[in-house]
Amino acid sequence: MTKVLMVCLGNICRSPLAEGILTSKVNPAHVFVDSAGTAGYHVGHPPDPRSIAVAGKHGLDISNQRCRKFNKSDFDEFDLIYVMDKANYSDILTMTSNQSQKDKVSLLLDVTNMGQSEVPDPYYGGDEGFENVYQMINDACEVIAASLNND
Ligand code: 4NP
Repeated sequence: MTKVLMVCLGNICRSPLAEGILTSKVNPAHVFVDSAGTAGYHVGHPPDPRSIAVAGKHGLDISNQRCRKFNKSDFDEFDLIYVMDKANYSDILTMTSNQSQKDKVSLLLDVTNMGQSEVPDPYYGGDEGFENVYQMINDACEVIAASLNND
């Protein structure tokens, strides 16, 4: 079993989409996907209604997810930790205590050749921001799923 953790700031917009999208592309017998936030503003809440809506538009139901905060035990629990932006990356890196933990962490978009390294935070923008974010995350998850499904 490979365990993958998707991380953003709030765990209500980007990483719940990443969890739902990657889950939909992998064999659940071999890959477990979860998500968490570096901040605890929304712990226990469902994803942002705009993330639920854009997922629904693409045939995914992410409404049962609940927000949780990233914690250090996630470094032991998960094999791969994908972060959405550079602020997430530095926040997570400061919590590491050895090289093998650092090696688990990467920017989600670095798996693609899209020339963009960050999934922008759509929280303060409009609905079109969520569709844009959905497409970026979907492209990256396509690449990740292809490599995991070949393991
Ligand atoms: P996320 O977006 O990191 O993609 O979940 C955000 C959600 C909430 C906040 C910031 C970003 N917030 O400040 O409450």
